[in-house]
Amino acid sequence: MTLKDKKILLGVSGGIAAYKAADLCSLLRKRGAAVRVVMTRNATQFVAPLTFETLTQSPVYLDLFAAQHSYEMEHISWARWGDALIVAPATADVLAKMAAGIADDALTTLYLSFTGPVVVAPAMNTQMLEHPATRKNLITLEERGVRIIPPGVGTLACGEVGAGRLPEPQTIIEELERILAGNNSAAEETARSSANEVISDKNGVTAVRDNALAGRVVVITSGPTHEYLDPVRFLTNPSSGKMGAALARAAASRGAKVHLVTGPVSPSVLPTDCATIHRVTTAEQMLLAVQALADSADAFIFAAAVSDFRVDRPVEKKIKRTGNAVVLPLVENPDISQAIGIRKKPGQVTIGFAAETDDLEANALTKLNRKHLDAIVANDVTNPRIGFESDDNEGTIYLRNGQKRFISRRPKDEVAQAVVDVLVELLQPAHNVPSQEDT
Ligand code: C5P
Repeated sequence: MTLKDKKILLGVSGGIAAYKAADLCSLLRKRGAAVRVVMTRNATQFVAPLTFETLTQSPVYLDLFAAQHSYEMEHISWARWGDALIVAPATADVLAKMAAGIADDALTTLYLSFTGPVVVAPAMNTQMLEHPATRKNLITLEERGVRIIPPGVGTLACGEVGAGRLPEPQTIIEELERILAGNNSAAEETARSSANEVISDKNGVTAVRDNALAGRVVVITSGPTHEYLDPVRFLTNPSSGKMGAALARAAASRGAKVHLVTGPVSPSVLPTDCATIHRVTTAEQMLLAVQALADSADAFIFAAAVSDFRVDRPVEKKIKRTGNAVVLPLVENPDISQAIGIRKKPGQVTIGFAAETDDLEANALTKLNRKHLDAIVANDVTNPRIGFESDDNEGTIYLRNGQKRFISRRPKDEVAQAVVDVLVELLQPAHNVPSQEDT
């Protein structure tokens, strides 16, 4: 979808990244969008309203009680005018107010009055972003349908290196176009709304709904993680996120509410409409996101290729050549599947993946036990026709009850359906045999 002739409400809140909102505003205008800007009082400390007024050729909405506009309830008339509301940067404070429904200024009042798609681009210090309060507020907003553009990783204004940067305006525009395209797809909405029929997403995959997972919440991890060494370099692996996306579609096609917690993957891989997407960068962020969802979940499928190691503290400035070897001690990342497996509530089911290069069965069974999983999907990553980046997969599913099922090479969507079949069985109480660790 293009932004041409779209009416965009741009909310700017008071973080240092507010200056980037001027570029974003100018880029939106260049794409042919009409833009109206609403600012918080704090945002005006960073950028003058006049900047936006000049860029948009319209007044900035700043004060609920401004005398010159008192004949008009702007939050209502602006809400009716806009096709979409994007808040960039969104501070921890404005996210908290939006999540709580507080409407004490122009931006938050407009948010409550607006019925169209809302997109937020959080930007703040890493600790503020990872604080359980902020994470909870982001989840509340996501569950309410607000779309979140994940903050980037790099050197922040406070000098720390971590997640919290406002993505570049160009990236925000691309995400906005993708999100608005998703929201506008009437065909997808129709497919979502009815049970027992064929559903499809933009990747053209179809599956029959049978609602076996109706009322169930399934959390799926997906993609790689990026573990930053310095502001521009990171440790990662070639995971594309295709398997996780296929699992999200498969679980949704059986009626589950799906949360897809994904590391950095191409937006084109992500499902458009069948899952709430939680984007993270690092393993630690992925763990926090999964933990925040854990109480409400019935099942977890850990398909992410999480980096096992990270540097303890990323170097603040780009590491320069000195002619000598660079030694960066690595520490272990948390094992997300194990952390959740150890504390799972009775009835919760966990399924993991094991990408192996040798001793497939023995390694898979060891992981099944160590991570307290109910089933594990093992595959041989030395086979170039399956696994990372490929559209196909092949593997054996080992169940805690001793069963094993071989899935011959087939598209990842079909493998995902076989995995979700196992999940459906395991969620039925009769099949939930106690694990060794439980006895
Ligand atoms: O030990 P290994 O990385 O091979 O285990 C793979 C399984 O554990 C996968 O399900 C993967 O998603 C999960 N995992 C995880 N957190 C890690 C490492 C792996 O959840 N740090």
